[in-house]
Amino acid sequence: EKGGYDYFMLKEIAEQPKAVADTLLGRIGTDGRLTLDELRMPASVLREVDKVVIVACGTAFHAGLIAKYVIEHWTRVPCEVEVASEFRYRDPIMNDRTLVIAISQSGETMDTLMAVRHAREQGAKVLAICNTNGSTIPRESDAVLYTHAGPEVAVASTKAFLTQLVACYLVALYLGQARGGRRDNEILTVIAQIGDAPKQVEQVLGTMEPVRALARSLADTHAVLFLGRHVGFPVALEGALKLKELAYMHAEGFAAGELKHGPIALIDDGLPVVVVVPSPRGRSILHDKIVSNIQEIRARGARTIVIAEEGDEAVVPYADHLVRIPATPTLLQPLVSTVPLQVFACELATAKGHEVDQPRNLAKSVTVE
Ligand code: F6R
Repeated sequence: EKGGYDYFMLKEIAEQPKAVADTLLGRIGTDGRLTLDELRMPASVLREVDKVVIVACGTAFHAGLIAKYVIEHWTRVPCEVEVASEFRYRDPIMNDRTLVIAISQSGETMDTLMAVRHAREQGAKVLAICNTNGSTIPRESDAVLYTHAGPEVAVASTKAFLTQLVACYLVALYLGQARGGRRDNEILTVIAQIGDAPKQVEQVLGTMEPVRALARSLADTHAVLFLGRHVGFPVALEGALKLKELAYMHAEGFAAGELKHGPIALIDDGLPVVVVVPSPRGRSILHDKIVSNIQEIRARGARTIVIAEEGDEAVVPYADHLVRIPATPTLLQPLVSTVPLQVFACELATAKGHEVDQPRNLAKSVTVE
């Protein structure tokens, strides 16, 4: 049932192009607009939403962090993201114009379920993004958008995460489309571009051998840092989480701009630092800033592992290891930049002799608070 792979995780990483394609399937109309009638949330309801709150745990929380950037950008509706276990205990402010999005692969995570119940008690509308048909969270929500990743067996989430991102993009674009406004043309352009994602993920998967070799060479390291900016920041957090749970290593993700406010003190000779570099096109200020961050850490001895778009030559002089990803619009980059980090963690953990499908102390679905 592992389809010729040694581990479910390897199989699930390889299935990502299909998972992404399946999650897009049937949701883009021939007129280039999104058709999410399945949500049964009328445009009139979506137009009234004045705040979005995303609740989720772990990897799904990282998808939510990325969703915040795109929701605010495409809809101009304020969006908060919170780990579900913190959410209801701080008496969050919600009403019937609040759209709560609960993201959960299993649909059974107790912290997320409790957040959903709390939100509905306050009168908020709850939309679940879920991978498991008929599970508890979608049953208790007002609406659901299913991800079509197929069953995810490995404890560490990979293909579910990419499909959660796709679902978040779809919800953000749909909300933007329903509300209309000055981002209309950009929304249509992105709907057209997101169709390239499966092919681009496939392309990344085809170039992972050097990443595997690098991961094996780092089997004796004790710590790895991950840096990103903008949507690359949650990608850095996700890369660090994968390494913690699979390789049992100290791994931290930081917003690259925060380095100088403390974490740069961690950098010493030979410390591997993975940097997720935003596209040099478009918002190039982000790109320029991260190139200086790479220079800063390298000057202090870091061994830099740079994930950058094809054609980005500015990073070349400062990259000890360079991992190329296809050029994508900045906001969609997490769909491709996450993949090398999954492969890196999986391979490093395997090199350490760990059971990657079943990491110690972890369960696939956390049904206690
Ligand atoms: C990490 C991982 C966990 C889950 C989290 C939420 O690889 O798998 O962090 O993402 O426990 O689970 P779901 O999405 O089922 O609510």
